[in-house]
Amino acid sequence: MAYPYVSDREVRVLSRYFGDPMARRVDTYVERGGYQAAKKAFEMGPDAVIEEVKSSGLRGRGGAGFPTGVKWSFMPKEPTRPHYLLCNADESEPGTFKDRELIRWDPHQLIEGVLIGAFAIRAKQAYIYCRGEFFETTQVLARALEDAYAKGYVGKNIQGSGVDIDITVHLGGGAYICGEETALMNSLEGRRGTPRVKPPFPAAVGAFGMPTTINNVETLAAVPHIVNNGGAWYRQWGTEKSSGTKLFCVSGHVNKPGNYELPLGFPLMDLINDVCGGVRDGNKLKAVIPGGSSVPILTAAECDCALSYEGVQEAGSMLGCASVIVMDETADIVKQVRRMVQFYAHESCGQCTPCREGTAWMTRILRRIEDGRGAEEDLDTLVEMSRQMTGTTICVLSDSAGAPVVSSINKFKDEYLALIRRGERVGVA
Ligand SMILES: Cc1cc2nc3c(=O)[nH]c(=O)nc-3n(C[C@H](O)[C@H](O)[C@H](O)COP(=O)(O)O)c2cc1C
Ligand code: SF4
Repeated sequence: MAYPYVSDREVRVLSRYFGDPMARRVDTYVERGGYQAAKKAFEMGPDAVIEEVKSSGLRGRGGAGFPTGVKWSFMPKEPTRPHYLLCNADESEPGTFKDRELIRWDPHQLIEGVLIGAFAIRAKQAYIYCRGEFFETTQVLARALEDAYAKGYVGKNIQGSGVDIDITVHLGGGAYICGEETALMNSLEGRRGTPRVKPPFPAAVGAFGMPTTINNVETLAAVPHIVNNGGAWYRQWGTEKSSGTKLFCVSGHVNKPGNYELPLGFPLMDLINDVCGGVRDGNKLKAVIPGGSSVPILTAAECDCALSYEGVQEAGSMLGCASVIVMDETADIVKQVRRMVQFYAHESCGQCTPCREGTAWMTRILRRIEDGRGAEEDLDTLVEMSRQMTGTTICVLSDSAGAPVVSSINKFKDEYLALIRRGERVGVA
């Protein structure tokens, strides 16, 4: 079974077995060299593993891009209490569809990454928290885990090493907010999935009140390759600040949407025009959201940038989890922004007033503008609301809702004004 679209410009490290159902089998994975990295890691010891991951420059693929080795080094070195590794497979950010594919096609790659991560942070128990709707994905993962247990690659005395690590797959209820690390912990513990106030940070007080590290699926899937081949090998791709390869989830108005694994620093316009076969119907490019719905929108003129953490930041947005949403000239920016904000309003956990009220009111105002009942002052109100919703809440969902609103008003004001003025002309307002 071929994977829908592939490009010869890809560097397929994590996605090398996408489209190959045999890769799900534990025997195939082992025949192809699988579980050797875990064995090697157990021989290296936790500190050496952390150093190797630090030297690779791997940054968290869940959105914030925090250096993985550095995060692992925050965990206590002499465990007096249980430690936990949580693998974040909640993947609910609009435009993101890479983690489910990594699990679906190559579950043992993730299981091996989880083993190495758990070993490095001195945890004997790891959890893979999957989004509630990922029924097939979770089934594939649960089956692979069962096989890995049966063959002695997970559990007690793994591969005769004396290392014990258990892994549990946990299916969430399907809420976006449960992807936020502390909400995920609450949900895992059987509480309401609402974010916790930080500090304390998870490395001190995390799941079940114990030191905890949380990593994204793609982050952990990269780890066996780094342990096998070394940090310097991983650095052959990408830039100084953004090393390695990254899965880009491209959706929207391109001819060949899909997941593409590319070196970080890859030009955004090459991704659109070359890898993805260009904008559909020969239309003109209008805008791109480069990192999932939580980041500022780029205009077509700003898209001449490199897809690295620093490159996208210089262009005025964020790489986030590298979910590239492409919009052509037919896209209705106000409608798209309203839909995103409506999503945040729906998913807000409601603990913080600026987020709960702000996302709901922003949705109403945007809907009013869309329907031709808006006023020019609404734009100032939206910008001011966004300012009040940023940095004032327990988690950054609130900030995320404001980012597309403000960037679209700054960059596509004409579209807002056209809707407002059309409404005034026909007397809707
Ligand atoms: C509202 C919200 C939703 C999030 N959803 C996800 C998610 O679905 N998957 C994920 O890996 N990280 C998500 N994150 C980021 C996590 O809190 C956390 O930073 C990440 O799992 C850490 O892994 P990393 O260091 O490997 O990137 C979310 C954050 C916020 C604020
Ligand atoms: S910012 Fe929103 S989602 Fe985050 S804790 Fe506050 S109310 Fe909940």
